[in-house]
Amino acid sequence: MENKTVPQHVAIIMDGNGRWAKQRGLERVEGHRAGAVAVRNMVAILKKSDVKYLTLYAFSTENWKRSKEEVDALMELLAEFIDANLDLLQENNVRLLVTGRIEGLPEKARNKLKDAIRKTADNQDGTVIFALNYGGRAELADAAKKIAQKVLAGELDPEEINENTVAQNLYLPEIPDPDLLIRTSGELRLSNFLLWELSYSEIYVTNTFWPDFGEEEFYKAIEEYQKRNRRFGGR
Ligand code: IPE
Ligand code: IPE
Ligand code: MG
Repeated sequence: MENKTVPQHVAIIMDGNGRWAKQRGLERVEGHRAGAVAVRNMVAILKKSDVKYLTLYAFSTENWKRSKEEVDALMELLAEFIDANLDLLQENNVRLLVTGRIEGLPEKARNKLKDAIRKTADNQDGTVIFALNYGGRAELADAAKKIAQKVLAGELDPEEINENTVAQNLYLPEIPDPDLLIRTSGELRLSNFLLWELSYSEIYVTNTFWPDFGEEEFYKAIEEYQKRNRRFGGR
């Protein structure tokens, strides 16, 4: 049976900024700059759609392996992005959240993010979640640490630990799992994204590079999602 519902939560692995730039004979950072414009466009797209949560993988725990030049440029772009788009989030009544080890980000970007999270906290027409310094394995390790601390403090009996305990100790326990995962640029892998939360998400991969991804492609992915039959292991 076709599932005509709109996904409540869409997660995107925004890949291909480097290839987009290379194709044009530009520096990688120009690809990231174009990628930031595509992220900006997603705010209005989210607001117009019935999708409630949009998680965007912007920087992984593994992305620190890139050159200092590229990492610095990405962190600078992140700070600039918040400055340039806080008004847009407010106008669209969209809330900003971050998932990942936010304390590991450079101070400037971190402070701007925290400020934007605070200022947009009551916005109710959609939630954009930036995955920054995010790793699925790091998130599970951090959850294990929190659970162990609760056991040590005598707040939790190890016998009572179940799937719900893990879910409740992730970075954003109140956000429902993604219904749909989109990856741009054609790679068929998760790259350490939302390992727990994506267990039953539908997957859509497009060859389009992230800077070229927009409304049309977003709706194509949603249409594709609506043709899927989600069984969750049942019949
Ligand atoms: C995605 O684009 C952006 C980040 C990972 C920060 P890439 O920079 O990975 O682009 P490709 O994969 O090299 O084309
Ligand atoms: C995944 O893209 C991370 C982000 C989009 C932020 P990568 O470009 O880092 O992934 P790999 O290296 O191709 O797996
Ligand atoms: Mg890449």
